[in-house]
Amino acid sequence: MPSETLTIVDNRTGRSYEVPIHRNAVNAGDLSQIKTSAEDRGLMSYDPGFKNTAVCESRISLVDGERGILLYRGYPIEQMAEQSTFLETAYLLLEAQLPSRKQLEQWTHDITYHTMLHENIKKFMEGFRHDAHPMGILISTVGALSTFYPQARDIFDVESRRRQAHRLIAKMPTLAAYAYRHSVGLPYAYPDNDLSYTGNFLNMMFKMTELKYRPNPVLERALDVLFILHADHEQNCSTNIMRGVGSSNADPYSSIAAAVAALSGPLHGGANEQVVRMLAQIGDVSRVPELIRRVKAGESRLMGFGHRIYKSYDPRAKIIKKMADAVFDEVGRNPLLDIALELEKIALEDEYFVSRKLYPNVDFYSGLIYQAMGFPMDMFSVLFAIPRVVGWLAQWEESLLDSDRKIARPRQIYTGSQHRDYTPLFDRP
Ligand code: CMC
Repeated sequence: MPSETLTIVDNRTGRSYEVPIHRNAVNAGDLSQIKTSAEDRGLMSYDPGFKNTAVCESRISLVDGERGILLYRGYPIEQMAEQSTFLETAYLLLEAQLPSRKQLEQWTHDITYHTMLHENIKKFMEGFRHDAHPMGILISTVGALSTFYPQARDIFDVESRRRQAHRLIAKMPTLAAYAYRHSVGLPYAYPDNDLSYTGNFLNMMFKMTELKYRPNPVLERALDVLFILHADHEQNCSTNIMRGVGSSNADPYSSIAAAVAALSGPLHGGANEQVVRMLAQIGDVSRVPELIRRVKAGESRLMGFGHRIYKSYDPRAKIIKKMADAVFDEVGRNPLLDIALELEKIALEDEYFVSRKLYPNVDFYSGLIYQAMGFPMDMFSVLFAIPRVVGWLAQWEESLLDSDRKIARPRQIYTGSQHRDYTPLFDRP
């Protein structure tokens, strides 16, 4: 008998059970022994939205919501943002260690030389309407990559997994930039292997007639830091979807397409776009109290505020807020910033937000920076998806190799009709 157990007394039968506690959790499966009769399938736990259910053991990232801490493989996000690069962070998340200089060189080479897309992809890009949301285009095109790389289905082959990871990390910016260029009717700009990961992405987004695009180093670095901040965030909605779809042994492109779809929602990665729309709608600092009133009355949500795990200031939002100055010095201040600052000030003093521990999250300031950099609002959640691919891949691989792995298949509490006989159409009232 393990030293830590939970004693459960079932008042229905008077029986008592000792349930082992492991790493501060009980195994939900252990509850199924608690029955009222032999036919009873046993006690279940009920947890919509997995608010208090651990679905895996993981070593990749840790969010300490009370203290506002985020660790990538043990390294604090502040140190990664200050000293690392996105590609090095990607290596760390996937390989569990910081790379040596040689490993980083090879890794950078492997990603850089997978940035091109098959020319056919341009053809189905053409099929989208000019005003198609780039997130919709991304969901479809990243899923379609599975048809170009059928060997990706060999998910238990280490080499194949590595190659798909290179491809996915490398091709996401290209797909994203193509989606944008399609929406504005510009010719696609091919990747430039002389540039850094984010420098090349800016090239594919914004290159016009110049022979060689030269990214602004301040914006290139700012985007790299934003990508570091978005690379992983333990068991969030889209990561849970990645693991869930992956649990059926689907190939990684299909699973990533599902994860991007989850990210597109306004409560998740779509929130950064909604924040800027909300700030634009407020329009003036003087109208901030009116929005706060509406939020408190339950008529609206304050987008970019609140988090399932963070019950203090999101450390990523802190870094972004600081970085905003460097970007605004370069490209000019975003006029919506004053509204955001006022909104934050009022909310952080208001009892409604204080008592619910609602603080700015990563999405509150990121959209303002993206907008100042010249990205259209539709692209904001795409900018979240590009770096999050790394976290999705790391979590997917971890789940594939987990000895406790099972296909995701939750239970339900059925509250519908019991057996009833079909009434033919003409006999119905
Ligand atoms: N504005 C106003 N009230 C809020 C907000 C908000 N943004 N977020 C939570 N609340 C209230 C909510 O009404 C509830 O109040 P009450 O107890 O009186 O019913 C309480 O706070 C708890 O909210 P919840 O919806 O039960 O919390 P949750 O953990 O299920 O939801 C969340 C987390 C992120 C979906 C939510 O805070 C939210 O909708 N925020 C706005 C959207 C947003 O910024 N999303 C980005 C999240 S960070 C990036 C990412 O991971 O995607």
